[in-house]
Amino acid sequence: MSNQSTALSAPADATHTARLLPGAPVADEILADVESRVSALRSRGITPSLATILVGDDDASAGYIRIKQRQAAALGFASPHQHLPATATQADLHAAIDAFNADPDVHALLIQYPTPAHLDYDAALMRVDPDKDVDGMHPLNLGRLAAGIPGPLPCTPAGIEALLAHHGIPVSGREVVILGRGATLGRPLAMLLAQKRPTANAAVTVVHTGVADWPRYTRRADILIAAAGVPGIIQPEHVRPGAVVIGGGVRYEGRRLLPDVDESCATVAGAITPRVGGVGPTTVAMLFRNAIEAAERAVSRETAEE
Ligand SMILES: NC(=O)c1ccc[n+]([C@@H]2O[C@H](COP(=O)([O-])OP(=O)(O)OC[C@H]3O[C@@H](n4cnc5c(N)ncnc54)[C@H](OP(=O)(O)O)[C@@H]3O)[C@@H](O)[C@H]2O)c1
Repeated sequence: MSNQSTALSAPADATHTARLLPGAPVADEILADVESRVSALRSRGITPSLATILVGDDDASAGYIRIKQRQAAALGFASPHQHLPATATQADLHAAIDAFNADPDVHALLIQYPTPAHLDYDAALMRVDPDKDVDGMHPLNLGRLAAGIPGPLPCTPAGIEALLAHHGIPVSGREVVILGRGATLGRPLAMLLAQKRPTANAAVTVVHTGVADWPRYTRRADILIAAAGVPGIIQPEHVRPGAVVIGGGVRYEGRRLLPDVDESCATVAGAITPRVGGVGPTTVAMLFRNAIEAAERAVSRETAEE
């Protein structure tokens, strides 16, 4: 955890610029931990394995898979890969998932999103062995999160909790307001930050299109988290002076990234994630943390059965 002062006091003057909360040092810390846990397993003769499935020939998706495979290799993971053609059927995709599910040497599995339009991604996700679900998005894992049972956590919410902790932002007992209740971000994040844990334990409020006067809530937040996917929806007048602002929601127009949080919010906030390089790097790091934890759980299950 960083020793820098926490940001919840009001900014002093109009020239104020919020302290930045970059994701890279958080990700580095998480990945260093993952790397040492990978080494520990490898020294016992076990190679943790993160398998990937890509359907089709979308350049961006292929690029994301390559980046994850390179990073997996750098951390010491095996990364078996199945590339299915764009014409693959749902049954082909399920067969690829079943094969990785059944392989005891594969500990974690990622299906690159989005899959081609004729395929049902949610049905494929349901097919993944929940213990190998590296995105933490299988309904059983969302159920574990709701019930407080350990399991893979959704990567972006877990990354945001880690980002706040790393930068020394107090969360316990504070008012967190999340704009957005989507299944990927807002909803699981609300469950996570309300849990009884020193890095969570917050009073969480979730607002959305059903709350017409949502700025009334965001303006009182100690920590405001944007999770709407509506570019520029958070403006300075929605932020309490000195509050911490976390930009989770983004929309892509081509390769252009359009964040929910307008940059001018830095004139009011006490601390804020940068336009680029805030939540994103922590999301990727959490993917690898889920992968090593899946491997560790599999090994301890096998040891218990012996
Ligand atoms: N940075 C990362 O690594 C990362 C990773 C994953 C996701 N994301 C981003 O996170 C965002 C949320 O993803 P998701 O899948 O959870 O979202 P989602 O399912 O699209 O949900 C968006 C939420 O925002 C609310 N919302 C939209 N427009 C609004 C408005 N004008 N006023 C008030 N509320 C509004 C919606 O309200 P209703 O429920 O009432 O419709 C909904 O709850 C997306 O932008 C996504 O790209 C980022």
